[in-house]
Amino acid sequence: MPQVLEFSDVVVRRNARDIVDHLDWEVSDDQRWVVLGPNGAGKTTILQLADTLIHPTSGAVTILGERLGRTDVFELRPRIGFASSAMARRIPAEETVLDVVLTAAFSVVGRWREDYEDIDERRALRVLAEWRLDDLADRTFGTLSDGEQKRVQIARSIMTDPELLLLDEPTASLDLGAREDLLTLLGGYAQAPTTPAMVMVTHHVEEIPVGFTHVLLLRDGRAVASGPIAEALTGESLTETFGTPITLREEDGRFTARAAR
Ligand SMILES: Nc1ncnc2c1ncn2[C@@H]1O[C@H](COP(=O)(O)OP(=O)(O)OP(=O)(O)O)[C@@H](O)[C@H]1O
Ligand SMILES: [Mg+2]
Repeated sequence: MPQVLEFSDVVVRRNARDIVDHLDWEVSDDQRWVVLGPNGAGKTTILQLADTLIHPTSGAVTILGERLGRTDVFELRPRIGFASSAMARRIPAEETVLDVVLTAAFSVVGRWREDYEDIDERRALRVLAEWRLDDLADRTFGTLSDGEQKRVQIARSIMTDPELLLLDEPTASLDLGAREDLLTLLGGYAQAPTTPAMVMVTHHVEEIPVGFTHVLLLRDGRAVASGPIAEALTGESLTETFGTPITLREEDGRFTARAAR
């Protein structure tokens, strides 16, 4: 399977500290990764590398076959979908849901005289239906619930049919029902054959959707464990990642973790 992401001995140094510390990591196009770790572990930083927003201090990052630093990031970026709350804050509150998704076709936020093709509009409507947003197409973004806003962000990030999809805490701040609804949608999407490689960041094993295949456990910018979920996600690896004794349980492809007694 073709490699979508390749991190080789990657270091990101900020204020004399290695916030990504000699990381090796490979993602191929049939894999769906969860990146798990405590606050400040470096999760968002590695998504920023994968989205070409920052460069490594040393080491090599190769994205969709292009080496970061030796390629035009403006050609690479449209091939990558990225949804995060930082990006959501840039969406104007008065923008309609349809426009939030449609404007992704032009890599802009805020509709401004772009000449949209019918084909883009049809695709946007199809993506909205897939993420159960069709009833909300004419609503303004600012009037949506958190759960609805999260689904719109994901719909926007897949509008351009990316080859790599990056999601930074897509289920953060959702109530139990909204979280489970979104996890069901994400799980269905992850298992569809046409879905691109995915990397999803979360703090909680409870938020790993069914259908995700691999996990990277990060602590202080270092990989504690990395590989297929069945091998890499264990009570021991979680204990080391979060620095407190943890037991892990699995039921029907979903996980729960709690402090070890
Ligand atoms: N530009 C910067 N300058 C200095 N420190 C930075 C910079 N960017 C990130 N950091 C630090 O690097 C560490 C990793 O940050 P990052 O945002 O990747 O963590 P995270 O794993 O996403 O955390 P969270 O779960 O809280 O979102 C943090 O300690 C953060 O304060
Ligand atoms: Mg983060």
